[in-house]
Amino acid sequence: MAASRGEFSSRMGFILAAAGSAVGLGNIWGFPSQVAANGGAAFVLVYLLLAFLIAYPVLMTELAIGRFAKANTLAALEKLSRGPISRRASYLFGYLGVVVAGLILSFYGVIAGLMLGQCLESLLSLFGIETGLLSGTGASTFFTLLFMALTFAIVMRGVSSGIEAWSRRLMPMLIVLLLLLIAIVVSQAGAQQGLKAYLLPDFSKIWQGDLLLSAMGQVFFSLSLGVGTMLIYGSYVKQKESLPKLGAWVTLVDVAIAFLAGLLIIPAMYVAMNNGVQIYDSQGELLASSQLVFVVLPELFASLGVFGIVLSSLFFAMLVLASLTSSISMLEVPVATLSEQSGCSRRQAAILSLLVIASVSLLLIWQGDVLFGLAVSASTEFGQPLMGLVFCIYLGWLWQRHLLLSELQKGSPNIANSAFWRCWPNYVKYVCPLIILTIFFSSIAA
Ligand code: PFF
Repeated sequence: MAASRGEFSSRMGFILAAAGSAVGLGNIWGFPSQVAANGGAAFVLVYLLLAFLIAYPVLMTELAIGRFAKANTLAALEKLSRGPISRRASYLFGYLGVVVAGLILSFYGVIAGLMLGQCLESLLSLFGIETGLLSGTGASTFFTLLFMALTFAIVMRGVSSGIEAWSRRLMPMLIVLLLLLIAIVVSQAGAQQGLKAYLLPDFSKIWQGDLLLSAMGQVFFSLSLGVGTMLIYGSYVKQKESLPKLGAWVTLVDVAIAFLAGLLIIPAMYVAMNNGVQIYDSQGELLASSQLVFVVLPELFASLGVFGIVLSSLFFAMLVLASLTSSISMLEVPVATLSEQSGCSRRQAAILSLLVIASVSLLLIWQGDVLFGLAVSASTEFGQPLMGLVFCIYLGWLWQRHLLLSELQKGSPNIANSAFWRCWPNYVKYVCPLIILTIFFSSIAA
């Protein structure tokens, strides 16, 4: 193992880095899309509930295992193992986590690359330069590689001077941009109707279709769970920090930013409608997903003239910032695992990981939608729930309770008498696996 490990230098540094991992395309694009597709405010309420009923307990599981082991996923699970079977399984799951992280980064990088292209295109057209930069796979390839290179440059600098330092810079910029865009959009004609659709729940929708399942999948992806990212970030947290508090902060920030993103996107759709843009499909449902980001919003920006181009640049810049703080956390999984398990340097591990992941990205760009969809569902519908289950089993069934308690007591000396300690370990042992299995089998059946 490598002799010295990185560490977050402060509580704020950790919160911004972990919230940076959590806040990404999943919040700013995925969440509003799901809101649009699942009956507005009803989805928001279910999401908020699940964030604290499922995501927070699993996030705490990863953080606790990580800080206890002070190691990557593989070594951490090995440390909790009680016999040869769980020990061997820890290798399997350690590497599975690396594959899941790499696969997510490979498709995430392609989408983030598109956002980077859109942002540059808007900026250039502000100066009257019409580039058509985004047409074709060549452009996609270029921007994906550029985005991957940015991710690599940050991760290579290490935990405190790379991941933490850049999260400290990028997260405040992201929040300022988001608030600014909300203020602009909400003051436009038509926004009020969007605000109503977003904030007034229609409770009859809660039991409709797969709203509950979509919300569970969304919350898991949004908090970067079941990948090992949060476990590894937890391994860089100082002993004096209270993990339940840190986990609560990260969950709160993630949920708050998803909520704010909805406050931007849903009213923006109604402003677009007010400007003559079509926002409903032939079945009368709000357009969501790629239609929303690549058709509705660009048409909205186009309908606003030069002001729209400024908005478009800001919007896509915000998406790039959000993606970058997430992608660095994904790349950290293979980098930490490779460097700690093989003893190679961080730089070598980062180069190797980047080469493999960027090659998969290029394959996804060149081979079309089928492979892309496969990478998305293999990693998010299978990999993440499976790894989430593994973390709950190792913590709930293998980790001796007195050792778990003494880990949590570092930074929270009175935790033994708290409601958290009375509920959480059994909740992770019995309830979380049941919930995760439900998500898993339902998404397979869907
Ligand atoms: N949480 C990120 C988002 O909402 O966009 C996505 C993500 C980041 C997933 C890191 C997995 C991960 F390890």
